[in-house]
Amino acid sequence: MERGHHALCLLLLPFTLHLLLAPATSTFLEVEDDVILGTVGEATAKVGKGANASTRRGVGGGRYFAGVGWKEEIAGAAARPELAAWLRGVRRRIHERPELAYEEVETSRLVRDELDAMGVGFRYPLARTGVVATLGTGRPPVVALRADMDALPIQEAVEWEHKSRNPGKMHACGHDAHVAMLLGAARILKSREHHLKGTVKLLFQPAEESGCGAKRMIEDGALEGVEAIFAVHVSHQHPTSVIGSRTGPLLAGCGFFKAVIRAIDPPERRRPDKPVLAAASTIISLQSIVSREADPLDSQVVSVAVVNGSETIVHAGELALGGTFRAFSNASFYHLRRRIEEVITAQSRVHGCEATVDFFENESFYPPTVNDARMYAHVKRTATEMLGPAGYRDVPPMMGAEDFSFYSQAVPAGFYYIGVRNETLGSVHTGHSPYFMIDEDVLPTGAAFHAAVAERFLADHDDLMAESAASSDMIDQKL
Ligand SMILES: *[C@@H]1O[C@H](CO)[C@@H](O)[C@H](O)[C@H]1NC(C)=O
Ligand SMILES: *[C@@H]1O[C@H](CO)[C@@H](O)[C@H](O)[C@H]1NC(C)=O
Ligand SMILES: *[C@@H]1O[C@H](CO)[C@@H](O)[C@H](O)[C@H]1NC(C)=O
Ligand SMILES: *[C@@H]1O[C@H](CO)[C@@H](O)[C@H](O)[C@H]1NC(C)=O
Ligand SMILES: *[C@@H]1O[C@H](CO)[C@@H](O)[C@H](O)[C@H]1NC(C)=O
Ligand SMILES: [Zn+2]
Ligand SMILES: [Zn+2]
Repeated sequence: MERGHHALCLLLLPFTLHLLLAPATSTFLEVEDDVILGTVGEATAKVGKGANASTRRGVGGGRYFAGVGWKEEIAGAAARPELAAWLRGVRRRIHERPELAYEEVETSRLVRDELDAMGVGFRYPLARTGVVATLGTGRPPVVALRADMDALPIQEAVEWEHKSRNPGKMHACGHDAHVAMLLGAARILKSREHHLKGTVKLLFQPAEESGCGAKRMIEDGALEGVEAIFAVHVSHQHPTSVIGSRTGPLLAGCGFFKAVIRAIDPPERRRPDKPVLAAASTIISLQSIVSREADPLDSQVVSVAVVNGSETIVHAGELALGGTFRAFSNASFYHLRRRIEEVITAQSRVHGCEATVDFFENESFYPPTVNDARMYAHVKRTATEMLGPAGYRDVPPMMGAEDFSFYSQAVPAGFYYIGVRNETLGSVHTGHSPYFMIDEDVLPTGAAFHAAVAERFLADHDDLMAESAASSDMIDQKL
């Protein structure tokens, strides 16, 4: 849907668009009766009716029931009306005060104040405004959960009580909900710290939409000792609280380039047609990188979206062109980057010009997000356990991009969506729309699911990490 023109949008608004969600493929089924979190209210009822955490101990006994009662206990914790009200309050406070990349000062303070109130220790600052909280034994294994904190330079068009009070800024991608859900997970995990068979790190990172916050968090040590990382993104494509994911490449790598082609001749002998010819020839050659060199089964895009030269050709003998490129495998993504640079410099030289190419590597250079097969399986299994088969869907890969890819390059990673779609409420708009909104009923489920993913990862750590990583490597090589 957005493929036709996203290249241009991306270039003109280079730091404001990263998640283009493809249409949903499966239909939603009614959540089954025995499922806990699909009906959080029921969970409270069950817990209230004497089926409380300790009396349920011993039920199950399968691998994912080991330790037992975790589903009921976590669901019960999440189902407390007090927690739901607090989650909504946190999310609304953040929503009212959206802050752009690396300016998340108030948001970061809110996170630290809430962690302090829970008695959860943290490190601050990382990547300027980032916070890393730590729970559990303080010993290995260590699992990480991540939330992004930044908003977008968009004027909110939704009229409601908690509309953005910062003109021209909006949480139009749901990062306010991501922060609230991760703080909710902190509260649930704090109350279950004695169950944790290792350490949980909660990463509150700045600058996902632009500025590669994840990369700077890693540089500042956020992944030290971490064996696996998980993160959630809200999605308007799935009904409230339904989880979606897939194994292997999930989101494309996305980069931008800007080339300046300039005539080598001294000003008195300069011919303005030279950079024009060099640019024309360069554009044609760039188009053939994908058509001639790429495997047709490996989706790739290179598009030149802007050519700018009317003034500068005459005055400085130079011309600028810019564009975007995307690919689903790491190898293809870096290959495209190298070939774009080679083609631009070589074609310019052919026409008696020289060129410099900028890839904005500190601002918007996002490799593909690739899910590790084992971490994907862990997300799917945990979702199916907690929400029932109808609470989980496999989703197709999407051409959008996420800076979570930097983590997924460093350690085995599991990225997943959680639905916020509710036609009655009108939460049907895509991320980055000024009409974007969420169904806040997602918050307790999201918090509980985070907590479950981390706690179960630690409980099943030895089995999970023993499984072969070969399948996920193969996917990346094949593409
Ligand atoms: C849960 O069960 C334990 C042990 O049977 C009991 O001591 C406790 O009072 C129960 N809690 C509730 C809320 O029923
Ligand atoms: C074109 O180049 C000029 C001079 O460098 C610059 O002022 C202008 O903003 C550029 N336009 C676009 C659309 O990039
Ligand atoms: C990019 O960021 C790194 C630190 O993350 C810094 O050392 C480097 O100078 C930056 N490069 C540019 C071109 O700003
Ligand atoms: C992706 O490719 C780059 C460049 O070849 C390499 O430095 C990086 O380690 C690769 N990442 C993964 C996860 O393979
Ligand atoms: C949508 O939201 C309304 C109001 O909160 C709620 O009554 C309804 O159950 C929700 N529908 C779904 C499918 O979640
Ligand atoms: Zn976004
Ligand atoms: Zn986002």
